[in-house]
Amino acid sequence: MPVDIVAGGQGGDEGKGKICAYLAHKGDYRYAVKVGGPNAGHTVFHKGKIYALKSIPAGFVSPRTKLVLGAGTYIITDWLLKETTLTGTAGRLIIDPNAVVIEPRQTAAERRDSRMMKSIGSVGTGLGAAVRDRIDRKKIKFAKDEPRLRRWVKPVPELLNKALAAGDGVIVEGTQGMKLSLLHGEYPYVTSRDTTASTFLAEAGLGPKYVRDVYAIFKPYVSRVGPGPLAAEIKDKSKLNIHHTKGREVGSVSGRLRRIGAFEYDLARRAVAINSATRLAITHIDLYQGADNPRRLSDIKGEAAAFLKKIGALSKVYPYPKLSIVSYGPGLMDVLDLR
Ligand code: IMP
Ligand code: MG
Repeated sequence: MPVDIVAGGQGGDEGKGKICAYLAHKGDYRYAVKVGGPNAGHTVFHKGKIYALKSIPAGFVSPRTKLVLGAGTYIITDWLLKETTLTGTAGRLIIDPNAVVIEPRQTAAERRDSRMMKSIGSVGTGLGAAVRDRIDRKKIKFAKDEPRLRRWVKPVPELLNKALAAGDGVIVEGTQGMKLSLLHGEYPYVTSRDTTASTFLAEAGLGPKYVRDVYAIFKPYVSRVGPGPLAAEIKDKSKLNIHHTKGREVGSVSGRLRRIGAFEYDLARRAVAINSATRLAITHIDLYQGADNPRRLSDIKGEAAAFLKKIGALSKVYPYPKLSIVSYGPGLMDVLDLR
C-alpha cells in the first residue's frame, strides 16, 4: 500500500484531524506521519473522549499504526509528553532525529513580537521563531539533542521507505490549509511554512513516487482564527454564534473564536490543483439543514444537498477529485464513506 496525504483546502481547521483519524481507523496504515508545528490543532472525538492534539498524529486511533514525527516537525517537548501519556502511545512513537524542539526562548521571542502576534495573529507557540532560527543556521535544538525524546528517535525516512517497499501504507497528515501557505496563501497572513501536499511529503522524508491519494478537506464555509482576507465574512452575531456553538468553531490551540466567511470557490479550485487532490472530503455538512444522521448520500436533503451539488464543480478541476467522504458530525464514525 502506498502513501496517502491529507491537506487542508481552506484556512486551516477544515476537520483534518477527524478525517485523518477516520482514514487511519479504516485504512490500517503502518505509519501515520504528522508534520508542522504545535500551532496547528487536530481535534478527534474518539471513544467518548475529545482529544485536542497538537503533537501526536490523529492516526493514533488505529492501535497498530506507528506514530511518526518527521524532520519537518516542530515539537514542544512538554506538550508532546503530555499527549503521549493522554493517548497512551509511548510504545509506538517515532521521532526523526532532525525534528526541531521549540525552546522556551523561541516561544518567548515570538510572544514578545507584537507585529507577529497582533498583525499576523500568530498562535504564539514559537514555531515561526524556530523556523527562522533554522533558516538562519543558528544553533537550535533537534530531537536527537533532547534527552527526554531520545528513546523515540529513529531514522524516519529509512523506516518509511522500508515499509513502502514491503507494501505497507503511510498516511501523511498535513497541517493548516491553503490560505495559510507561505508559498501559495494570502501573504502576509500566512504561517511560517508551505501547507500543501508536496511540502508535507518532504517534511516527512518521502518523495512523490508512491503517492496514491491526496485528500483535500473542505467545510461548507471558510474560517480564519487570525486576521487576513475572508470572503463575505459573517458579522451577524446570532449567525456567528451558531458557528461558534453548534459548529464548534473555536481555535483548538489559540482558544479564539474563529472568524467565518462564505465558501470560496476560487480558493477551492486552487487547492485542488496545487495539492493535485484526487479525493474530496467535506466536513461540517451538519451545519446545514438536511444532513441529520444520513445513512447514504441520497438521505442528504435541503441546503446540505444543494451545497454538495454545487461543489460538484470541484470534480471538474484537474486531476478531477472524487467526492469521497462526507462528515456530518464530530464523532469518528459520523461519516459517509463514498469510496
Ligand atoms: P502562526 O503560524 O502561529 O504564526 O500563525 C500565522 C497565522 O496562521 C495566524 O493568523 C494564525 O491564526 C494562523 N494559523 C496558524 N495555525 C493555524 C491552524 O492550525 N488553523 C488555523 N489558523 C492557523
Ligand atoms: Mg486546527
